[in-house]
Amino acid sequence: MVAMVSPSTLFLILLFLSIPFSESNLTIDYYKNSCPQLENIIRETVTSKYISVPAAAAGTLRLFFHDCMVGGCDASVLISSNAFNKAERDADINLALPGDAFDVIVRAKTALELSCPDIVSCADILALATRNFVSMAGGPVYTVMLGRKDSLESNISSVEANIPRANTTMDEIIRMFESKNFTVGEMVALSGAHTIGFSHCKEFAYRLFGYSRSTPTDPSYHPKFSAALKKLCANYKNDSDMAAFNDPMTPSKFDNMFYQNLKRGMGLLESDNGLLRHPKPAISWIYMLSTRLPFPMILLEQSKSLAFLGLRLETKEK
Ligand SMILES: *[C@@H]1O[C@H](CO)[C@@H](O)[C@H](O)[C@H]1NC(C)=O
Ligand SMILES: *[C@@H]1O[C@H](CO)[C@@H](O)[C@H](O)[C@H]1NC(C)=O
Ligand SMILES: *[C@@H]1O[C@H](CO)[C@@H](O)[C@H](O)[C@H]1NC(C)=O
Ligand SMILES: *[C@@H]1O[C@H](CO)[C@@H](O)[C@H](O)[C@H]1NC(C)=O
Ligand SMILES: *[C@@H]1O[C@H](CO)[C@@H](O)[C@H](O)[C@H]1NC(C)=O
Repeated sequence: MVAMVSPSTLFLILLFLSIPFSESNLTIDYYKNSCPQLENIIRETVTSKYISVPAAAAGTLRLFFHDCMVGGCDASVLISSNAFNKAERDADINLALPGDAFDVIVRAKTALELSCPDIVSCADILALATRNFVSMAGGPVYTVMLGRKDSLESNISSVEANIPRANTTMDEIIRMFESKNFTVGEMVALSGAHTIGFSHCKEFAYRLFGYSRSTPTDPSYHPKFSAALKKLCANYKNDSDMAAFNDPMTPSKFDNMFYQNLKRGMGLLESDNGLLRHPKPAISWIYMLSTRLPFPMILLEQSKSLAFLGLRLETKEK
């Protein structure tokens, strides 16, 4: 099994940012005149990365999520630390963000600087690249609104309270999302991003080997699934690269299998699995989303609270 995205976290899908126009100033044709080659350059860069490293799709989706959850989609996760400031990127939970995801953004930015210098924000590049990766992985094709501003600040101390870990309790996760005005349904939809990507054994090994004194293995796993995971992760302490697909049925396809897996006791992470136990409305969303194809566009198109993800406010002029 390959290793790359280490995932502590879950949800990630800030894709469908085709949010209500009234709530932000993002537009479809923001760069129409200033950088007409934008879409072509993104497509070329992403396609070539996807061909050489398919796992970059999940990695970039994760990078986008980790950026957006902390102060909006403003590319603050891309900023490096310096002698005076520790940046988001160096937060514990961000250390395992895959190099290929950063690399594809840097490549796109470099190519764009040749065609239209100093025009396109990194936040928009990240949003577009994520969209292209998702489409290439079999997910829906959707329109990305543009005009995000890049942040000039990035503070490591903003990260911890905003990005869920694999073992974050469902109450806490709900609070995190509510603080950004996400409904439970939207949270469930975002967690569906775990239809691609993988998690390292150390993120969920406690569910296999040390769940409780009387029950070493979390009984909410399907017994065959936990048996397979135990085998896979038997040596995880010595081999920290050991990892399992978040969606074992169709691991690199962007579909709704994640929800079907949950119903079968195949939710890899407790934070995914927990959706099924907690709160009631989450369960009905899981059932709803697991029966729809393609991925839950409908829900996200209707979403009113995604605006914050789209636009970092004026205080952060580029
Ligand atoms: C959107 O644009 C209007 C008019 O240009 C401006 O007044 C408003 O502050 C902008 N809103 C945001 C969120 O940038
Ligand atoms: C980062 O945030 C912490 C806590 O809010 C604050 O004390 C610190 O000054 C911030 N750092 C910068 C460079 O703004
Ligand atoms: C969750 O996992 C992190 C490491 O990933 C650990 O530091 C933390 O103590 C764990 N929290 C709980 C409540 O188990
Ligand atoms: C959430 O909604 C409230 C009330 O509409 C608003 O004041 C607040 O700014 C919103 N928060 C975010 C993060 O968008
Ligand atoms: C793991 O490594 C330790 C020390 O390197 C060794 O003693 C142990 O046998 C190894 N365990 C497995 C399962 O390989």
